[in-house]
Amino acid sequence: MEAHQADRGGIIVLEETRSTNEELAALARSGGAGHGTAVRAVAQTAGRGRRAHGWASPAGGLYLSIAISPRVDADQLPGLPVACGLGVIAALDGAGARGARLKWPNDIVAGRGKLGGILVELVQAAAGPIAVCGIGINMSAPSHPQLEPGALAPVGLDALSPVGEPVDAEGLAPLVRDAVLESCARWADGLGPGDAPLSSIVQDYNDVLAFRGDSVRVAPVDGDAYDEGVLIGVDALGRAIIDRPGGPLAIDASLASIRPRE
Ligand code: BTN
Repeated sequence: MEAHQADRGGIIVLEETRSTNEELAALARSGGAGHGTAVRAVAQTAGRGRRAHGWASPAGGLYLSIAISPRVDADQLPGLPVACGLGVIAALDGAGARGARLKWPNDIVAGRGKLGGILVELVQAAAGPIAVCGIGINMSAPSHPQLEPGALAPVGLDALSPVGEPVDAEGLAPLVRDAVLESCARWADGLGPGDAPLSSIVQDYNDVLAFRGDSVRVAPVDGDAYDEGVLIGVDALGRAIIDRPGGPLAIDASLASIRPRE
């Protein structure tokens, strides 16, 4: 790890690194990170996104990774990224950036633009598994975005009408860290043995689900063909429920993504 310092709220801050998820994963493997340890970078040179995509990370955005010791059954872990996402929405709300939503499965959106993303990676540490929850938030819209086909255009936090003083990445980081830890604790505490991964937070998820009730296109991750229907909501297994003429469809997040119809 390069030169670091303690930030406001005890977050490890790096000026520049490849990826805060890589940094925190290495720290966790060496026994140097426990539940709640957080690493923020001012800029990342090899930021990682979901599905092996990159994450553009110029200075100015929020790049934060938080270690979480998940106290749930292994088959309930798929609920963790959503619990993180609900924490991020709560933190934004608390910072006066109201109206952010979760696009299934767990992109953070403002209107029809992508405001942020979450990448959760599991690390085996000597003391047990640690989930590295990486959160990226655009504080302002990138000037030259590189868009994947069908992806939502990136937008910045300034796309949401601010209430009160605007917040920067340094100010937002401890709010996000605290809200994510609180949301993950609530998620885990509400689950009993054998419960579906999202049963404790499915209502909250549906309350902030973007494009709910809207016509959407369902695109398989490995092909061009798509289906269309109305997004009804998400179930306790984290599947998107799409209403379409042939009857409702429950889609697993590993198989497809959705996008609003133009
Ligand atoms: C996505 O593809 O939507 C997820 C993007 C996650 C980006 C964040 S930025 C902080 C952390 N470090 C990384 O390399 N990735 C995550």
